[in-house]
Amino acid sequence: MRTWMLAGTGLAAIASGFVGSAEAAGRLTLYCATDEAWCQLMATEFEKATGIDVAMTRKSSGETFAQIKAEKDNPKGDIWWGGTGDPHLQAAEEGLTDVYESPMNGELHDWALAQYEVSGGRTVGIYAGALGFGYNTELLAQKGLAAPACWADLIKPEYKGEVQMANPNSSGTAYTALATFVQLMGEDKGFEYLKALHANINQYTKSGSAPIKAAAQGETMVGIVFQHDAVTMKAGGAPIAVVSPCEGTGYEIGSMSIIAGARNVEEAEQFYDFALKADVQTKAREAKSYQVPSNKNAPPPPESPKLTEIKLIDYDFAKYGSSAERSRLLGKWDSEVSAMPR
Ligand code: F6P
Repeated sequence: MRTWMLAGTGLAAIASGFVGSAEAAGRLTLYCATDEAWCQLMATEFEKATGIDVAMTRKSSGETFAQIKAEKDNPKGDIWWGGTGDPHLQAAEEGLTDVYESPMNGELHDWALAQYEVSGGRTVGIYAGALGFGYNTELLAQKGLAAPACWADLIKPEYKGEVQMANPNSSGTAYTALATFVQLMGEDKGFEYLKALHANINQYTKSGSAPIKAAAQGETMVGIVFQHDAVTMKAGGAPIAVVSPCEGTGYEIGSMSIIAGARNVEEAEQFYDFALKADVQTKAREAKSYQVPSNKNAPPPPESPKLTEIKLIDYDFAKYGSSAERSRLLGKWDSEVSAMPR
């Protein structure tokens, strides 16, 4: 009996020792919505810097929002890092994410803090990037087409079956495109444009950057994507030209939010502060990610499309990131655009 008790106590002590050290090292469940390579890099760098174990899953922005919403009564994720800002704002409005004021806020550009302010402190900008498109220069030459320079070019009959973009329900990139056309042209003309574009689309992908990866492989001629994602393909040696459309274009403020009810709040806050550091943001280029960093002390990579030289619209993040507007526009796109025959 005595032996058993001793053994039992020892086991309990060892067990609690293990639990204790696991807790001391900590763990973090990261929902990541940038490209896979950058997600991996962030998880690895954070583990190296803190010893905290990171379980990371990569999904597109709209999909991540949907997952966090579905898990609301039993949250499994701790922090949502990356992806376009609109669904982060919708999550904030729906109470799916928590308020956090990072000591790093003072180092951020105003556009990054604008996300923080409009959401009542529930999300913050981590990078920015302009929408546009890229095309495969070899395919263009083979078909003998003039180089597309404007959104208007992509609905011309000669581009039938040559254009790819993502589905705006799953992809933040494609939702940015949808909201951009509505803001640039007005809602009626924007939807007319989307319907005309639908006739030329060969596939709606799940992830926002997939269309330019397909263009790099010669599987589609044009991909509607963030310009920095087209730059990634070009930097990798693919025959891709990057276009800043002549009419002007929208942009994203890639964002980060702590999930409401997170099991590992302290670790989530540590990650949040870490992700806003200049030296951490500067590492994005190692993963061939060329967004403009939100920390003022992190210079944009030389390859980054220069936002000051691009004709940007005054994208209304508060409106297009609101729950009512995002849901309404997606519903309208489903019923009026994607349901149409091609
Ligand atoms: O990392 C590439 C990127 O384009 C980000 O700039 C953007 O926030 C995210 O992917 C959007 O991905 P998706 O369209 O799949 O939601």
